[in-house]
Amino acid sequence: MSSHRHRHRHLHVVVVVVLLLSLFVSSSHTFSPYEESQIRTFQSYLQLPTPHPNPNYTPSVSFLTSVAQSLNLTIQTLEFVPNKPLLLLTWPGLSPHLPSLLLNSHLDSVPAEPRLWSHPPFSAHRDPSTGRIFARGAQDDKSISIQYLESIRNLKLSNFRPLRSVHLSFVPDEEIGAADGMARFVPSEHFKNLNVGFVLDEGQASEGEDFRVFYADRSPWSLIVKATGQPGHGSRMFDGSAGENLMECVEAVARFREAQFDLVKAGIKEASEVVSVNLVYLKAGTPSPTGFVMNMQPSEAEAGFDVRFTPTEDPDLLRKRIEEEWAPISKNLTYQLIQKGPIRDKAGRPLVTATNDSNPWWSVFKQAIIASGGKLAKPEILRSTTDARFIRQMGIPTLGFSPMANTPILLHEHNEFLRDSVFLNGIKVYEHIISSLSSFSATAEQ
Ligand SMILES: *[C@@H]1O[C@H](CO)[C@@H](O)[C@H](O)[C@H]1NC(C)=O
Ligand SMILES: *[C@@H]1O[C@H](CO)[C@@H](O)[C@H](O)[C@H]1NC(C)=O
Ligand SMILES: *[C@@H]1O[C@H](CO)[C@@H](O)[C@H](O)[C@H]1NC(C)=O
Ligand SMILES: [Zn+2]
Repeated sequence: MSSHRHRHRHLHVVVVVVLLLSLFVSSSHTFSPYEESQIRTFQSYLQLPTPHPNPNYTPSVSFLTSVAQSLNLTIQTLEFVPNKPLLLLTWPGLSPHLPSLLLNSHLDSVPAEPRLWSHPPFSAHRDPSTGRIFARGAQDDKSISIQYLESIRNLKLSNFRPLRSVHLSFVPDEEIGAADGMARFVPSEHFKNLNVGFVLDEGQASEGEDFRVFYADRSPWSLIVKATGQPGHGSRMFDGSAGENLMECVEAVARFREAQFDLVKAGIKEASEVVSVNLVYLKAGTPSPTGFVMNMQPSEAEAGFDVRFTPTEDPDLLRKRIEEEWAPISKNLTYQLIQKGPIRDKAGRPLVTATNDSNPWWSVFKQAIIASGGKLAKPEILRSTTDARFIRQMGIPTLGFSPMANTPILLHEHNEFLRDSVFLNGIKVYEHIISSLSSFSATAEQ
């Protein structure tokens, strides 16, 4: 009896251990040694810090060059500005005269504040139970850099040969506006010689099952409005003071902002599909040792606005609105509009990539996602900007895409991470994308 009970207890222990083991195994660690080595490549790349304001690009370029060598890719390092290298890799196609496929990512990252992270931001610590790999750049966008390369490794192992040439660009300075990066690359002879037909650039993580895809970026503008007017005693009510004139502007902007925001609140438009205008500073008043002179109306006042222009709008209409409603000269208002980056392509068309059958690359891309077992969400306009805008300016269709489903959106945040399984699945997705887009033969020379 007692020995029976003893056996029973043994059995319990064994069952519990087996249950625990199976839980452990199913949460992660079911990867092959080959997949583990792909994860290690990702971690090693993440461990090379490239945060602004002083990204050191040399170790990253050396690292990527050695991966490219192991893949027998053609390697070129371009330097438009000293110490800001651009790495360009090529997998030559069997029909190199066809327009090529370009896969772009950037080398730099935003800074990280280590004291606010649970693991050092350049340790690429991999949590054994969740598979989360923590690092600045894990989502934005060093994941796609390594996924592009490792999917090419898989395709080469399966003896796939592309019809079109496949190029990979790793560019500096995306996070600070790309003046010494993509903005220099696209007008160059090097870029022209690639005969690029279609580009994939970074996208963003998706909290749901579907992958997100971006067909346009919003364009950042700065609007500065200056008011002048009659100065006067603080006690007097009169028309035409600088403060009153500036209020005309602020109220007109507020009415426009509310109408745009109402469209978002009512669910008629996405936040990135409207023009946003937000007040970022106000400057007025006569300074005194304790603050401001309180009984004097100033002769000058100024307001600054952050404007995000959506490419589906007509920029001339907005300029007309600014001139007539927001800053009319009749109210002693003048304005300065600073456009940061292009809003129209070489042919004067909006910087929008078609996501319908008029764009043959789109159809092939969409089919490839389905074939990989994934699903695409409704195409979106990105709220902010990426290097894609410079490529769209050349009239080349470009989509923003990073295959990160079921993942919190952590770009530029503390504790940025990507799960190992999500990283590996992305490699599979790119295998489908690269093999389809590099081998469809229909002429797509729009
Ligand atoms: C690269 O080329 C070498 C020599 O031709 C070959 O042995 C190797 O398998 C190639 N590697 C890949 C990944 O294509
Ligand atoms: C514009 O400024 C001038 C000079 O300060 C002032 O005389 C005039 O009344 C102002 N007009 C308006 C409409 O504010
Ligand atoms: C496809 O999309 C583009 C850009 O959004 C649009 O201009 C065009 O009219 C659309 N074409 C068709 C056939 O739907
Ligand atoms: Zn990025």
